[in-house]
Amino acid sequence: MNKYIKFALIGLLIAFVVIQFFQGDERVNERMTSNDITEQIQIDSELSSLLQNACYDCHSNQPKYPWYASIAPLSWKVKEHIADGRSELNFSEWGTYSAKKRDHKLEEMIEEVQEGKMPLNEYRWFHPEGRLTKSQIAMLSN
Ligand code: HEC
Repeated sequence: MNKYIKFALIGLLIAFVVIQFFQGDERVNERMTSNDITEQIQIDSELSSLLQNACYDCHSNQPKYPWYASIAPLSWKVKEHIADGRSELNFSEWGTYSAKKRDHKLEEMIEEVQEGKMPLNEYRWFHPEGRLTKSQIAMLSN
């Protein structure tokens, strides 16, 4: 092997090891409270499991972290999605939202899901349950 390639590879390997010490934000893991959307509005179990399976990993206080969330730089991306997702819409905090905000968020949910923007593309690669079927989208819209 050319010695420059060897140096470059060793450099990359060292960089990879070093970034493992920088995992990004702390993991979010809070208890479910009565502010959760499933406690706040009457939704059937099918819809609540859809939300929990396909949305809660970025839009709740109980995200499930996949194995690659322990490996930088993927962990940075996962944590960024969770931080951004929760700041836009947090199903665990539904009870604290005003009526106006809830209406708006419900509209946005239908829009995002119908347009295929949510769950995020990258999420769907790794999570088959995030690939919603037409009937699931129709159910959520109803
Ligand atoms: C992999 C993480 C992830 C998953 C899973 C996910 N979202 Fe999101 N969501 C985000 C991020 C990040 C944003 C903010 C940036 C953006 O809009 O792209 C967002 C934004 C939104 C918004 C926009 C809020 C607003 O007021 O503009 C809605 C609505 C939404 N998501 C609904 C959903 C629904 C419904 C699901 C499940 C079917 C879902 N999301 C699943 C990460 C995610």
